Amino acid sequence: MSERIKTGIFGLDQLMEGGMRDNTAVVIVGSSGTGKTTFAIQFLMHGIENGEQGLYVTMEESPEQIMKEAEMMGWNMKEHYEKSLFFIHLKGQNFKKMIEEKLPQLVKARSDYDIRTRVVIDPMTPVIWATEDKLLQRELIGKLFYTLKELGVVMATVEEHSSPGEMIGEDVLLPVYLSDGAINLEYYPIGGAFNRTLKIVKMRGTHHGEGVYPYIFARGAGAIVRSSPVESRSDEGMSYDEVFDEAIKTAEFIKAPAHVMEKLKTMKANWTYDYSPEEILQVIFDSYDLK
Ligand SMILES: Nc1ncnc2c1ncn2[C@@H]1O[C@H](COP(=O)(O)OP(=O)(O)OP(=O)(O)O)[C@@H](O)[C@H]1O
Ligand SMILES: [Mg+2]
Repeated sequence: MSERIKTGIFGLDQLMEGGMRDNTAVVIVGSSGTGKTTFAIQFLMHGIENGEQGLYVTMEESPEQIMKEAEMMGWNMKEHYEKSLFFIHLKGQNFKKMIEEKLPQLVKARSDYDIRTRVVIDPMTPVIWATEDKLLQRELIGKLFYTLKELGVVMATVEEHSSPGEMIGEDVLLPVYLSDGAINLEYYPIGGAFNRTLKIVKMRGTHHGEGVYPYIFARGAGAIVRSSPVESRSDEGMSYDEVFDEAIKTAEFIKAPAHVMEKLKTMKANWTYDYSPEEILQVIFDSYDLK
C-alpha cells in the first residue's frame, strides 16, 4: 500500500482512502465561484503547515493578488512567501515554449532539493484556450502534468461552463481524461443549506465515495465536506460559542498543534450558519487524527 497524501480539504480525504497517491494529478472542475481556488489554496497550505513546500503555477493573477485574496479568506500565505511557498507565473504568449522548455528546467532545479512539494495550477483553463488544436491541447496538458508530477502531488483547476446538473462539458473532458483524479464542484445559487456540492468523478487506484456531498466554507478553515447531510435548524439568534469552546478545550487538552487551534478560534469568530458546528468540528478533528 502506498502512502496517502492528505489533501487537507476537511472531510474529502475520508472519501478517498485517506488522500491522494503521491505523484498524481487531480483536476478540480467547476464553474466560476464554486470554490476551485479555495480548494487549491487549502491543499497547498496544508502541505506548507506540515513542513512541505508549495508551488503555485498561475497564468493570470499575480502572486500579490492571490495572496491578498487568500488573506481575506483567512490564510496567511505571505508569511511563507519565497520560504516554502513559490510562484511560477506562466505568461500566455507562448505556453508551448514555457511548458516544453522552461518548466522542465525549473522543475529540475527544484527537484534537487529533497523536500516534498505540492503543486497547484490555478487556473489551468488558459492552457486549454490557448489553442483550438485538440492534439496540441492534449500535448500541453499531458506535458504539464508529466513535468509537475515529478515534484509531488498536483492539483489543477479547470473552469466549466455547463450549468449544475448538466453533463460534463467538452472543454473539460481532456484534462479530466489526462488526470489521475477529478472532482466536480457545483454551486446552486438558489440558497438553502446545501447549495454547494461535490462529486468525485474519478480517482485512479482508489475506492472513493460515489455520492454527491455537500460542502461549506468556513473562514479560517476553508472548505469542509460533509459526508452525511444533516437537517438544518434555524434557531434564530442562538449562539454556538459553547460548542466551539468545548471543542477548543478538548483540542487544548489533547495538545493539538498551534495552527489547528488557530483555525478553531477563527472559525468560532466567523461562524454565521444557522446550525450547530458540531458535525463540522468532528470532521476537522478526524482529519487531524485528534481523539
Ligand atoms: N474560507 C472562506 N470563507 C467564506 N467564504 C469563502 C471562503 N472561501 C471561499 N469562499 C467563497 O466562495 C466563493 C468562491 O471562491 P473561489 O474563488 O475559490 O471560487 P473559484 O471557483 O476559484 O472561482 P473563479 O472561477 O472565479 O476563479 C467566493 O466568492 C467566496 O465568497
Ligand atoms: Mg479561482
